[in-house]
Amino acid sequence: MPYSRIVGLGHYVPERIVTNQYLSTVMDTNDDWIVERTGIRERRWIDPATDTVANMAAKASRMALERAGLQPSDIDFIIFATITPDYFFPGSGVLLQRELGLDGRIAALDIRNACSGFIYALSVADQFIKTGMYKNILVVGGEIQSTALDVTTRGRNTAVIFGDGAGAAIVQASGRQGVLSTHLHSDGNFAEELYIRDPGSSRSAAERQPDQILDTSTYKVVMNGNQVFKHAVVRFTEVITEALQANSLSKEDINLLVPHQANLRISQYIQEKLSLSNDQVYNNIMRYGNTTAASIPIALSEAWAEGRIRENDLVCLAAFGSGFTWASALIRW
Ligand code: COA
Repeated sequence: MPYSRIVGLGHYVPERIVTNQYLSTVMDTNDDWIVERTGIRERRWIDPATDTVANMAAKASRMALERAGLQPSDIDFIIFATITPDYFFPGSGVLLQRELGLDGRIAALDIRNACSGFIYALSVADQFIKTGMYKNILVVGGEIQSTALDVTTRGRNTAVIFGDGAGAAIVQASGRQGVLSTHLHSDGNFAEELYIRDPGSSRSAAERQPDQILDTSTYKVVMNGNQVFKHAVVRFTEVITEALQANSLSKEDINLLVPHQANLRISQYIQEKLSLSNDQVYNNIMRYGNTTAASIPIALSEAWAEGRIRENDLVCLAAFGSGFTWASALIRW
């Protein structure tokens, strides 16, 4: 049975840098509060005239293909993790296929598991590789969160956290070990703790198509930050431990943990709980904020480019987010 290996990584973030200082001019917040509670110093927000989820993903994918030494035509399947597709439907997978000029017949699958989306997508890719159905799968996470944020004092607990960007990985069938295991979980009892209500389908036709939307608050991100934080620190630790146990490995074996960049305090809590050194954990939330499904592939791509991931390293991915969903993956690089 073939193994799945990540043979190329790429990322793209919009040019516009939004600093904490800027946010403090449009809402009641300040750099000290944001840095202390989240670790974020700046994030990237799109320019709607130039950036789309699909074209950011295409830029990240081209970088991943180049680093893998592959052509777009080598890709036989696309898996696109996003909760912010360019259209309500179709999903962004088909738009990415078009952007890359890929063979019009290859399949494109969209995954909507928020911050855990990239690991869910990697897990799906791994199953298709193992069955022998596909050989080179493009796995992408891309998000535009900035346009769904309430950038006023009312929305300050989310507006300061989220950012935009895309990351991509080429997952290839190989005779050598790569993805050792993936572990996926969800608990829908907490669906409304972090969500956007509209444009939801469970509305009357009149509600879905009003002449005028008077109150746009249900189109913005709603988050119960305390509740998310409390569950995140427990689930992250659990799911990392689960992955290690499934492979008879211990936390000392981890060369690099790349957690979903939710909040620096969450990453630091996990690091402390698992007694990992600074060298064993990668964080870049300071520069990009929380980019949901894009955060892990962006972080992986940067970590790889910085030489933090070497051949044979044990890399652990872990995520928690809306749903609630949480997930982990262990990869022998
Ligand atoms: N600037 C200044 N003050 C802010 C603020 C901001 N951007 N956002 C919230 N506050 C205020 C609140 O209004 C509240 O004021 P009050 O006490 O007068 O009511 C105070 O700060 C404390 O709010 P609280 O929500 O209890 O703060 P917190 O310590 O829990 O931090 C989060 C808020 C959002 C940073 C924190 O809950 C968190 O990080 N949660 C996890 C979020 C996350 O990771 N989400 C993504 C998951 S994938």
